[in-house]
Amino acid sequence: MSNLCTYREPRINASIKDLDLDSTRLNGKVEALLSGMTRDEKIGQLVQLDASWGYPPEYLGDRIRAGGVGSVLNTADRAIVAELQRIAMTETRLGIPLLVGRDVIHGFETVMPIPLGQAASWNPALIEEAAAAAAIEASTTGINWTFAPMIDVTRDPRWGRVAESLGEDPFLTEQLGAAMVRGFQGDLVSPTALGACAKHFVGYGAAESGRDYATSILSPLDMKNTHLRPFHAAANAGVASVMTSFSDIDGVPATANGELLQGVLRDAWAFDGLVVSDWDSVRQLQVHGLTDSDRGSAREAINAGVDMEMTGDAYPNHLASLIDNGEVSETRLDDAVRNVLLMKFRLDLFQKAAGRPPEIDSLAASRVEDVSRQLAEQSLVLLKNDTSALPLAMHEISSLAIIGPLAHAPYQQLGTWIFDGDVERSVTPYDTFCQRFGDDVELRYLRALENSRSRDAEQFDKAVEIASASDAVLVFVGEESILSGEAHSRADITLPGAQAELIAALRTAGKPVVAIVLAGRPLVLENILDHVDAVLYAWHPGSQAGPAIVDILTGVTSPSGKLPITFPKMVGQVPIYYNQKNTGKPPTDDSIAHIDDLDTRAPQTSVGMSAYHLDAGFRPAFPFGFGLSYSEFTYEGFAPLSPDIAMGDTVKIQGRLSNTGSVDAWEVAQLYVRDVAASVTRPVRELKAFKRVLLAAGETCDVVFELPTDALGFYGRGGAWVIEPGLFHFWVGGSSDAEHGGQFCVLPTTKTVSRDQ
Ligand code: NOJ
Repeated sequence: MSNLCTYREPRINASIKDLDLDSTRLNGKVEALLSGMTRDEKIGQLVQLDASWGYPPEYLGDRIRAGGVGSVLNTADRAIVAELQRIAMTETRLGIPLLVGRDVIHGFETVMPIPLGQAASWNPALIEEAAAAAAIEASTTGINWTFAPMIDVTRDPRWGRVAESLGEDPFLTEQLGAAMVRGFQGDLVSPTALGACAKHFVGYGAAESGRDYATSILSPLDMKNTHLRPFHAAANAGVASVMTSFSDIDGVPATANGELLQGVLRDAWAFDGLVVSDWDSVRQLQVHGLTDSDRGSAREAINAGVDMEMTGDAYPNHLASLIDNGEVSETRLDDAVRNVLLMKFRLDLFQKAAGRPPEIDSLAASRVEDVSRQLAEQSLVLLKNDTSALPLAMHEISSLAIIGPLAHAPYQQLGTWIFDGDVERSVTPYDTFCQRFGDDVELRYLRALENSRSRDAEQFDKAVEIASASDAVLVFVGEESILSGEAHSRADITLPGAQAELIAALRTAGKPVVAIVLAGRPLVLENILDHVDAVLYAWHPGSQAGPAIVDILTGVTSPSGKLPITFPKMVGQVPIYYNQKNTGKPPTDDSIAHIDDLDTRAPQTSVGMSAYHLDAGFRPAFPFGFGLSYSEFTYEGFAPLSPDIAMGDTVKIQGRLSNTGSVDAWEVAQLYVRDVAASVTRPVRELKAFKRVLLAAGETCDVVFELPTDALGFYGRGGAWVIEPGLFHFWVGGSSDAEHGGQFCVLPTTKTVSRDQ
């Protein structure tokens, strides 16, 4: 049988329930295996060891041989993986294959945009394909489990891991996270499938002040209405595993939080996959101050519902004596082992790990590259284009200045989490300009700053000279990869180093200046916005940054990315997000004062008495959902087909979307809803649906949003799920600031609505 893999098509809207998992058969196999296992062998299945460092290979081999390891992580070396699997399958008593885990976060050797950039595409089908493409590449090494998607909702651009998130909105994160799960897992059994892992359960994205690993203070309703939602969606999409978060949640760190792990994940959602701790987070329970020993940490974690310990040795060192002592039950041990074995059977590892991993055929390889380019292109968000500086009219341009530390930085364009990224595959924007226009246009490239943090302005004069001699200036600024990602949070989120000064200097050349920002987070751009004609926000776009960015800059394609997270004007506005509460004193544009206009003896009530900052107002720099196009769109006539909806029915909101500009372009039409009066206060707007639509210049189409009343439910008083009748306002448009809308009414009913959690 050939083990060349073929490309997997996306399975939009499919769910685990569509897969023929034959649970009864698999459970039978699990029970048969479990019944013959010794206690040590069972404990071994709960141990995951680091295969990259810390353990010499012989030691790792010996531990596997002794039946003491259920999984390894952090090796992507095909030969090493094969050897470890060989030992596990042929030199242990039971021949149980290993789960081989890896952080395949946004691509593998071919790097896709960072997840936050992917989210800016608002394209679940393409994101699903990108995850499938990453799985195809990763599976060639024998990796069978990825620690993705990260579906922590976050409203804090200071947090380094915002790069790995899908942004601030629970609905968008639900949709895109589930798409990633489908993409990584496919049908689970195929040679190119990876088990996915929804992480970090839960609340990690709310770390105080965006400091990684800091405490998360969340109200019970925030937890239910915002942070848990994407995990519920991932569970419904059939995610194979869940990783606990490092966070302290209301005094009980997530790795010991039985209320969440057992009460919510297992009991309410019926999740029957594997729960793995985060890196050493079992032993860290002692550091948190919850336990006084590794032994206590092992007890708390396993009793709370953590099946497998990622690194650390608390489980192998202490579980046996905890069971002997009656502090952990045999039943709990068996349940944890069942979850590990079931995942191995679901992934068909007993077959797959015994054979050779798949190899990529040339068709699949080129599709992977194509998906990476398409997704990079759709992730780019045009934030400003005041003077129609973009697209560049290349036929009128004879010389172009390409300046900045990120114009030709093959490694930096890849972003965080690229353990296996192949920098040789990177095509930079400068490369693409050279390939496409090198013969006809004089391309003047200058790095100007050694890196994004450099403060050395020595080359600024030269940069201005080049800019003055060119028809237009492209300045590539932002953050290098290492400034975002795990443990890389920032308190000042303006452009680092002397990049703003570089832009101000370039402005003096008197030529159109376009800033292309590559970054792992939303940056505060206030100090450059007035010095540039256009801003294209590129995140870290991955291997295909060059073709994607140049296609947009030169108008081959119109930009279509939309912000998955609000951009603040000042860092002091954080957290600032669109789906906030109204408060009792909401600000309006004409009722607020500015700090510079205040009389020193002004009365206490002179400033409007509402929820805003004297020096920043209340609006962000760019709202959630925002992104410009080279075309223009109008939304007309959006109205519910019926103004009154019976509980249990579907609200249909229909209207016309027109491309009134002169180029063909994509638009992401967004539907927001507000529950006007409810038993607990609800956000001013909530994203409920979106559609990515391609319209030719001048074309109009009908857009219909269908919203079952179930989508209007929320967790209310006492934590109960409710769908309440009453008045709802809605808005349809191209951002969360959409003005076009109307209202509908959900009629009272005697029907009882309930939902687990
Ligand atoms: C720690 C990170 O928090 C987690 O996301 C990652 O998957 C593991 N390390 C494994 O590398």
